[in-house]
Amino acid sequence: MNLLVTGGAGFIGSNFVHHVLEHTDHSVTVLDKLTYAGNRASLDGLPADRFRFVEGDIIDAELVDRLFAEHDAVVHYAAESHNDNSLDDPRPFLDTNIIGTYTLLEAARRHNRRLHHISTDEVYGDLELDDPARFTEDTPYNPSSPYSSTKAGSDLLVRAWVRSFGVQATISNCSNNYGPYQHVEKFIPRQITNVLRGERPKLYGTGENVRDWIHADDHSSAVLTILEKGVIGETYLIGADGEKNNKDVVELILSELGQPSDAYDLVTDRPGHDLRYAIDSTKLRAELGWTPRFSDFEAGLKETIRWYQDNEAWWAPQKDATEARYTAQGQ
Ligand code: NAD
Ligand code: DAU
Repeated sequence: MNLLVTGGAGFIGSNFVHHVLEHTDHSVTVLDKLTYAGNRASLDGLPADRFRFVEGDIIDAELVDRLFAEHDAVVHYAAESHNDNSLDDPRPFLDTNIIGTYTLLEAARRHNRRLHHISTDEVYGDLELDDPARFTEDTPYNPSSPYSSTKAGSDLLVRAWVRSFGVQATISNCSNNYGPYQHVEKFIPRQITNVLRGERPKLYGTGENVRDWIHADDHSSAVLTILEKGVIGETYLIGADGEKNNKDVVELILSELGQPSDAYDLVTDRPGHDLRYAIDSTKLRAELGWTPRFSDFEAGLKETIRWYQDNEAWWAPQKDATEARYTAQGQ
């Protein structure tokens, strides 16, 4: 297949592109606007005969139309992805996540192309810490933030275009990813790079919030599985049973980097902060036969810490500006 990958210069998109080129014969074109979150260097060294990069906006209907005509299938990662930014300025989230997805759906309709839409578990809202339930494909949508509400809106657009216009689309909602190439604004890279720079990690609130961690490479293998075997119109939840609270994660990072486990600061909490996410991925495992490779979070985290130690040239240019933004927010 000749795949078009939107947002392929971002964290999860770039991991997917590396995964596809390593494990399949598919060719890949990345369409990416290179916002502050996109990094061309995350795609360095890929084979020129199977990989092409196009800088552009998914809202540009003419460009999108031309690219859809040239490709067999589209995997749609492009988004504004950071909750804290969405609280500061929601507008870009509406433009890219809603209008951008609409633009792709219209092109998929015109060209009758297969589309896989990447979404998040945050569309389901949050769970209590002691709730025995986890999110399933049947959990009602209840998003909390401008970010998650625009992702929920984009999912609903996909469902409507499947039903009303017969667009050949699938959706996946994944839990929190970790791994190489993640921007230093996000929780795990922020804390690792703080410690590497001699700064203290910053925990929002009391650090009790729980996230369900999955390695980005496992997210990639799940998306490839859905692209190849998924049933049109269906939604699949992706998760790897990786629930941990934020305090435990920070303590693991500190201990791996030889620091006292209490050498962190508690800072101003995120407004509307979701308490807990947890994914039940039974449908994906039972119906499509997918299993994650990184079953040991601590081992995956150690590998990720090593990647940031070895790739300071990749993250250092973003670090000061990111921390200046957090300082302005009291975080
Ligand atoms: P990211 O912010 O690291 O990357 C987003 C990429 O999209 C960047 O390369 C950016 O330049 C590009 N982009 C933004 N606006 C664009 C536009 N208008 N046109 C073209 N390109 C544009 O995000 P990420 O963490 O890699 O997330 C990728 C996708 O996965 C998003 O849809 C997100 O909602 C979803 N997701 C993320 C997680 C997670 O833990 N990070 C979990 C589940 C789902
Ligand atoms: O669940 C999937 C979602 O995971 C994706 O849809 C989002 O794109 C992705 O950004 C992520 O959202 P979160 O808000 O969970 O991720 P973030 O890395 O911003 O924060 C993870 C947790 O850590 C959250 O409880 C907030 C907390 N946190 C975050 C930062 C940046 C801190 O305690 N300190 C911090 O400095």
